[in-house]
Parts: sequence; C-alpha cells; structure tokens
Amino acid sequence: MYVCICHGVTEKDIQKAAKNGANSLQDVKQITGASTGCGSCADMALEVLLEAQPKPTPDFLQIIQSGLNIQTQV
Ligand code: FES
Repeated sequence: MYVCICHGVTEKDIQKAAKNGANSLQDVKQITGASTGCGSCADMALEVLLEAQPKPTPDFLQIIQSGLNIQTQV
C-alpha cells in the first residue's frame, strides 16, 4: 500500500527503514523521502513507523516497572 503518493513510498519501504534503524519521522523522511513533498502523508508514515518498531520484551517491561516502583517508594 502506498503511504506517500508524492514519492511513491510504500508501507514496506517504511517498515524496511524501521528495520534498518529509523526511529523518527525525520529518519523516515531522510531514508525514504516520504513526507518531503506536500506533507499530507506524515501522520500515516509515522503510524506505519510506530507499528514497525520492535516491541519491548516482557523482561524489559519488568525492569521499567520495577524502576517505577523504586521511584514511588522514595
Ligand atoms: S503524499 Fe507524501 S509528501 Fe505528499
């Protein structure tokens, strides 16, 4: 599916950029060219990027939650 009509950028192009380290809309712009024309695709490009980000592992979530518990006990 095309995300950016101006530059012919697809959902897969953005997913590939995310896999290669893109973690912001600015990264997607630089790597794919999406959202560098009319800009109307910015929200969709960001949504695809966020969905393509690696999900934290349960262990990572536990570390974050235990860190939050420590902060609330101080
Ligand atoms: S549709 Fe992406 S910049 Fe225009």
